[in-house]
Amino acid sequence: MQVLVENITKKYQVGEEEITVLDGVNLRIAAGDFLVITGPSGAGKTTFLNLLGTLDEPSAGRILYDGVDAGALHPNQIADFRRDHIGFVFQFYNLIPQLSAQENVMLPLLPNVKQLKFNLEERAAALLAQVGLDGKGEKYPYQLSGGEQQRVAIARALVNTPSLVLADEPTGNLDMEIGEQILRILQEVNRKQGVTVVMVTHNETFASFGTRVVQIFDHKLQKVG
Ligand SMILES: Nc1ncnc2c1ncn2[C@@H]1O[C@H](COP(=O)(O)OP(=O)(O)OP(=O)(O)O)[C@@H](O)[C@H]1O
Ligand SMILES: [Mg+2]
Repeated sequence: MQVLVENITKKYQVGEEEITVLDGVNLRIAAGDFLVITGPSGAGKTTFLNLLGTLDEPSAGRILYDGVDAGALHPNQIADFRRDHIGFVFQFYNLIPQLSAQENVMLPLLPNVKQLKFNLEERAAALLAQVGLDGKGEKYPYQLSGGEQQRVAIARALVNTPSLVLADEPTGNLDMEIGEQILRILQEVNRKQGVTVVMVTHNETFASFGTRVVQIFDHKLQKVG
């Protein structure tokens, strides 16, 4: 998916005060890019990723997804759009503790299970195998290591065959070696399936897994390197 960010600004109202987090950000993310976003803590990386994920709306400007302006859609249409096209991976995995790995992967599509043209259980099992967790579908999150939990979270992010995957510090809670394994999985998803990936990371070594790196600094987006 191609994403065009046009002159977006994001402001938050905190009590009496208005704070500007992003101020006039422009960016073109080509289909098949693996874009890495870095920047200091509090710079607005998560804010920007939430905007890209249609979880939040810009205060001004717009974001086009293959030409579609998400801001022009009805809230219900935005939810459908997000479910159909975007996958999310978070720093703390955000798995449901009461559900098995397999059930966690199935979860995003469960509300629509009757309309699906494929077997959801089979897809979940195939995705778990793809991320190296063949046979671990019955395990619960507490029975899995951090790296394994993040693999489940990646499988969950892929269950809707998204064309855009957004990852907010997916290795932030893992050591270097396990973090690299996670990044190789994301890299493979990007290269083999052509999925556009946007990842936030603090780690310079991990930034090299991307095809492009930008930094958020001083409320703006700046090229790195
Ligand atoms: N819902 C909100 N209401 C008010 N202020 C917010 C809100 N969300 C974020 N902020 C503020 O916006 C700024 C950017 O926050 P954001 O979480 O995007 O930073 P970040 O770059 O992801 O930082 P980190 O690297 O620590 O995760 C911070 O000053 C934060 O306090
Ligand atoms: Mg953040």
